[in-house]
Amino acid sequence: MDSIGVLTSGGDAPGMNACIRSVVRTAHANNVRTVGIKRGFKGLIDGDAEILTSRTVGGIARWGGTVLQTARCEEFKTPEGIKNGLASIQDLGIDGLIVIGGDGSLHGALALHKAGFPCVGIPGSIDNDVSGTDYAIGVDTATNTILEAMDKIKDTASAHQRAFVIEVMGRRCGYLATAAGVAGGAEMIIAPEKPVTMEDIRAEIVRAHDRGKPHFIMIVAEGASLRASDICDNLNTQGKQGYEARLTVLGHVQRGGSPTAFDRILASKLGNAAVKALLLGESGVMCGLDGVKTINTPLQHVLEHNRSADDYLLKLEETIAL
Ligand code: F6P
Repeated sequence: MDSIGVLTSGGDAPGMNACIRSVVRTAHANNVRTVGIKRGFKGLIDGDAEILTSRTVGGIARWGGTVLQTARCEEFKTPEGIKNGLASIQDLGIDGLIVIGGDGSLHGALALHKAGFPCVGIPGSIDNDVSGTDYAIGVDTATNTILEAMDKIKDTASAHQRAFVIEVMGRRCGYLATAAGVAGGAEMIIAPEKPVTMEDIRAEIVRAHDRGKPHFIMIVAEGASLRASDICDNLNTQGKQGYEARLTVLGHVQRGGSPTAFDRILASKLGNAAVKALLLGESGVMCGLDGVKTINTPLQHVLEHNRSADDYLLKLEETIAL
């Protein structure tokens, strides 16, 4: 291979820049040129690209977002979009492609592989809903962002003896809610993997009040069976159970910011592994983390197995939230 492409796609995740840097510098060490494709598969179809050198990626590892920018590209889900992408690949003169993104983006990578073009995926999504890896790039930073917000909310919640309903991202996966809930000592975690009713919530709040808790912090995943705003409204209108309730929706704050050391190291490992995989002739695989080592798993397998919240953490919180 003389030349490889790299793109970031779907929701951005802190650490994507550290991954791009690792891809470019690993390729450079192997005398391979890197073409950075802008705005994910949308930029691929449009042929919007630039050469990346070891110097142009200098200093980017500490930045959030992605210097290549990103997009959610509906067109690439169609046979026409893939055909246009392949035509563009010919024009760009690249021999392989690395796709950094979540499950939607990895579907795009698999489509290119199936069309006969060498393609390797890297999991980058704050949701941690991609199987084949312990962590996706960005998860650790997002968890720490939520934790920082929780710590601050706890101060004011205790001061006013309030219940706080904090909505966090994660789409249909409760990982972020669960991890942040355990780390931040939430009184209750509400994740899609464990449906609850308002009665369950009320019973939990009453128990906490009876135990003398000065606050009640609930972390609600955006894909949970009950919406955070509905829970908060319900608590304030149908009986407060001892605490007045307030809502905080953390939103896109969770996707930004400088990546943690963990995310920078993970991103550097996976970028390096993906280039090596392409150079060894591998395609249709995703490079993920297994313990401290990288592993390559067929994309087909990764995409057939959704990852959900950590069951052990969910149970752990039930015990230690007391
Ligand atoms: O997949 C990452 C994610 O941040 C999800 O947690 C969230 O549901 C979604 O993206 C939001 O997407 P958008 O930025 O397109 O509104």
